[in-house]
Amino acid sequence: IASTEKDEGAKSDLNLLVLTVASEKNDGYKRFIDSANLNGLKTKVLGFDKPWQGGNMNSVGGGYKLNLYLEALEPYKNNDNLAVLLTDAYDVVILANSSTILNKFTEFDASIVISTENSCWPDRKLADQYPTVDQNGYRFLNSGGLIGYASQLYKFLSEKPIKNLGDDQLHLTNLYLNTDLREKLNIKLDNYAKLFQNVYLAEDDIKLKLVNKSYVLENVNFNTQPAVIHGNGLSKITFNSYTNYIPNKWSPESGCNTCYDNNLDLSMLKEENYPKVLISIIVDKPTPFFDEFLNKIEDIDYPKSRLCLSITTLVDYHKEHVDKFISRIGDQYNASFVFHKTAEESIHARHFSFSLCTSKLCDFLFYIENEAHLDNPQTLKTLIQRNKKIIAPMLTRPFKAWSNFWGALSKDGFYARSLDYMDIVNYNKTGIWNVPYISSCYLMKGTILENKFTRPSYKEDNLDYDMAFSKSLRDKGVFMYIDNQYTYGHLIDSETFDITLKNPEVYQLFENRYDWEQRYIHPEYMENFNPDKKPAEPCPDVFWFPIVTEQFCREFIEIMENFGQWSDGTNNDTRLRTGYEAVPTRDIHMNQVGLEKHWLEFLRSYVLPIQKKAFIGYIHDVCGNENQTKFKQYNSMIPDWIPDMKLYQQETFI
Ligand code: UDX
Repeated sequence: IASTEKDEGAKSDLNLLVLTVASEKNDGYKRFIDSANLNGLKTKVLGFDKPWQGGNMNSVGGGYKLNLYLEALEPYKNNDNLAVLLTDAYDVVILANSSTILNKFTEFDASIVISTENSCWPDRKLADQYPTVDQNGYRFLNSGGLIGYASQLYKFLSEKPIKNLGDDQLHLTNLYLNTDLREKLNIKLDNYAKLFQNVYLAEDDIKLKLVNKSYVLENVNFNTQPAVIHGNGLSKITFNSYTNYIPNKWSPESGCNTCYDNNLDLSMLKEENYPKVLISIIVDKPTPFFDEFLNKIEDIDYPKSRLCLSITTLVDYHKEHVDKFISRIGDQYNASFVFHKTAEESIHARHFSFSLCTSKLCDFLFYIENEAHLDNPQTLKTLIQRNKKIIAPMLTRPFKAWSNFWGALSKDGFYARSLDYMDIVNYNKTGIWNVPYISSCYLMKGTILENKFTRPSYKEDNLDYDMAFSKSLRDKGVFMYIDNQYTYGHLIDSETFDITLKNPEVYQLFENRYDWEQRYIHPEYMENFNPDKKPAEPCPDVFWFPIVTEQFCREFIEIMENFGQWSDGTNNDTRLRTGYEAVPTRDIHMNQVGLEKHWLEFLRSYVLPIQKKAFIGYIHDVCGNENQTKFKQYNSMIPDWIPDMKLYQQETFI
């Protein structure tokens, strides 16, 4: 009884101090500190602004950390009423307050508790020396998190010296495997993730769970809610995606809780004080609807006196358009540049835009490839206000799951679908998401380009430039964000764009239907379905409807005249199976110019609905019903931001 009373007394006197190491205040560090602050923890950061002396953390190293801890513990070496939590910073978040952490700690009835993982690293040969554990507990020590009474931790770490470049995990392992020391200092491992969760090789054990309308991380194997989560080793990407939700980052009820933290408020600035931005456009492949792309660049809502515009072409096809565009509007910008380069110079051209940005003292570089259409003119301002080192507006190919970000990576570094990918792409979940890969369009702070420790690179190993870019940022610990709080625009699919054709956009009805409609379908088309409006009827049973644009007509005529092989106007027609044309005209068939399926689709999607309306009861379906079902599915995926895409509401097809 006496001893219990003493223990309880000790518990209530017990305080908690968090010690961590961070040689720089990178994104991971900020995330850690935010989580510690959220939980009201007293935290001391060691090694800040001093060169890191612990070696390359991709292999062995980290002894430096232990030496910093030991030095920091010195003043508390006789203190039994202080528990100290030693934890990594860059890949850790804390999910509990000090009383929860202290309760969990004291429940172990140990002087020191060390976190665990499933792999015996860095020396596998030591595995057999570890005590066995039941029920699939994590058997091996991880040095990223430990907690203990200050006095005991001091004894533990001063037991044996370690060189700064020595491996901290190996060092602690050897100390722990010394049975005498383990017993003398009453050291225990947290084998069942009561306090610490290391994520590597435990990905299947942990799940986000909604509790009181916000997410917690639960270990479903051991039915625990660990307080310290560590994305150790190769689990950093998975860990990053968890930290989109915890602690208290996003919930179904409140959405994104931190999206407006530390935002810049442009409305407080006079236009002449707006951040200086270099818009760097890379035109790297022939892409349909390029004129529209350029018009949207011109429409970006931002004071042009604060914008420099650079356009680099890597293909001949668009050079003329670019030259015309720049000669028309270049003068409106603070400065404008055109660079005509070759495909071989692709990486150099991209790196050159970094130098151009820094030489122009830009605050931001807005990188845009010509597949990225910014339909929302507020995109640039919105992204600047987010105040991130690098952030991309989410862009998708309309009707498809294809986007400019990846939520997860496969083992070999390629695309993998994260659990929340479809929810993000479909705007079911909106917010700002830390992701491992972004492409096509992003805003970078000039400061990350100036600093070699954060500057991205388009050249890494033999990777494609876009994968190299994201990998370099991941390796440098710079978080990449994708923003889907608003709808910003969409991506063009240029895979089938055939520039040998006359007016090749006409052929893009299937691949880029949205853009095709914008260019070729009459802006008043939907009025055809307005029940209060009667179509013009120039003579009985003949109706006029706005269906296509003048550009549609012009481009079709040009295609036919370019082809030029008109029939001779007689009844003999070798293009027909029978060879006989009953009602001859001088014409070109759609199939002669490769447009038959496009034309039938055009009739079905845009003419048939009007025909049904005008001639009630007369139904002649050119394509059968199968495609209509497909089309209805497409429509349900269209986000609301593209109102014109909703042209063909379901009732059109009833
Ligand atoms: C694993 C172990 O968990 C860790 O304890 C051990 O030191 C190395 O292996 P890992 O996640 O792979 O950890 O290492 P990493 O997070 O890259 O580095 C450990 C910590 O050292 C960082 O979180 C940070 O707190 C500190 N660090 C590392 C710096 O302060 N500066 C650096 O340049 C590198």
